[in-house]
Amino acid sequence: MNPLRIALLGTGLLGHSIAERLLLGNNPLYVYNRSRSKAEDLVSLGATLCNSPAEAIKAAEGIFLVLTDAKATAEVLALAEEKTSFRGKTFFQVGTISPDETLELDKQITQRGGYFVALPVLGSKNEAKKGTLLLMFGASEEHYHKWHDFLSQLGQVFFVADPKKAAALKLALNQLIISSIIGFSLSFSLILKEEIHPELFMSILRKSALYCSTFDKKLPRLLKKDYSSANFTLELLLKDLRLCLEELEKLSIESAPLKTSKIIIEQALKRGYGDKDYSALFEVVFAPHPMNEKSPEIIVEKNPSPSKLTELGVADWPLWEKDVSSFDWHYEEKESCYILEGEAIIYVENKEPLQISKGQLVIFPAGLSCRWEITSKIKKHYRIG
Ligand SMILES: NC(=O)c1ccc[n+]([C@@H]2O[C@H](COP(=O)([O-])OP(=O)(O)OC[C@H]3O[C@@H](n4cnc5c(N)ncnc54)[C@H](OP(=O)(O)O)[C@@H]3O)[C@@H](O)[C@H]2O)c1
Repeated sequence: MNPLRIALLGTGLLGHSIAERLLLGNNPLYVYNRSRSKAEDLVSLGATLCNSPAEAIKAAEGIFLVLTDAKATAEVLALAEEKTSFRGKTFFQVGTISPDETLELDKQITQRGGYFVALPVLGSKNEAKKGTLLLMFGASEEHYHKWHDFLSQLGQVFFVADPKKAAALKLALNQLIISSIIGFSLSFSLILKEEIHPELFMSILRKSALYCSTFDKKLPRLLKKDYSSANFTLELLLKDLRLCLEELEKLSIESAPLKTSKIIIEQALKRGYGDKDYSALFEVVFAPHPMNEKSPEIIVEKNPSPSKLTELGVADWPLWEKDVSSFDWHYEEKESCYILEGEAIIYVENKEPLQISKGQLVIFPAGLSCRWEITSKIKKHYRIG
């Protein structure tokens, strides 16, 4: 019997590694990626690089969908469905999507004559390359028997039968990825800040029932603050968290801990860790960003007495004028100013806009970032420091 011809759509972090593993076997592999450059190196390993999803699907009997989310998967399939038939072909949904999205995709593929297999996986780049992924097979027993041996190249295949349950299993497991890295980050931050030797902590932890191998896997990254070459990005972890949160709420399961994790992940994204390894969450736990702290207050004294102005020496402070305009400003140092003319609105993130005008003494604290909107020409005396 000829080996089954396989297509793989989406050669991102996971898809590329799955392709590398499959290319060690003897199944012809057709790959497609929106950014072609990310799939080109697979040609030297034996893959055929296709110009469109339709070309790859047409060539294959089994198609791996390893795309970011349900939306990306639908877009890629929509590009193909006009141009090639899905009839008789098996589509493996490897990317993580929700149980409802799984059902919807199953319906769409089945309507077009294809077979749908939910195949979420646990494990990342390295496990895919080594063939030690854990694959959750959500489709009929008949399909399971047909594909079991082939899929075993990638790791251990667990028969789940119901595609929706396979998707839910994956969300349940990914919830543990989130809570274990945040839990570890909390304890490890405490260890470092109490100046306890990390190895002492790890030696005790490794001997205990609390230990989880992820801790040792991520430890070198935490110690070196190196979150580059992600195995699994924070952006995708947030996507999975949202899917999980929706599911928990639908099932009336307490979601408060996950909501707190969401805040931490969103903070990490704000700090630019979106495309970094998810262990970068440690940075937010260890050193909450000043952005999360209450921004310092602007003090406004509406009618300062003449004696106060004299005492401060306001008349001798330099003058500053500016026409109607708007601009962002950051105060490295405290600045006091006395408004002689005009009006402006000061916008500070998460605060009510503040109007300042003629006759007011205004103190901008050091560290403040704000936006000035001058609504009528401003003239002011000012003093830095
Ligand atoms: N990484 C892991 O360890 C891991 C483990 C288990 C499950 N997963 C799941 O597997 C899926 C892929 O993860 P990944 O880590 O490989 O992500 P990734 O590196 O970000 O790759 C995403 C892939 O989707 C493609 N894509 C995104 N939007 C697209 C669109 N609108 N049209 C066409 N292609 C689009 C990207 O193409 P471009 O290259 O052109 O951007 C890329 O090939 C996700 O659902 C993830 O949650 C990942």
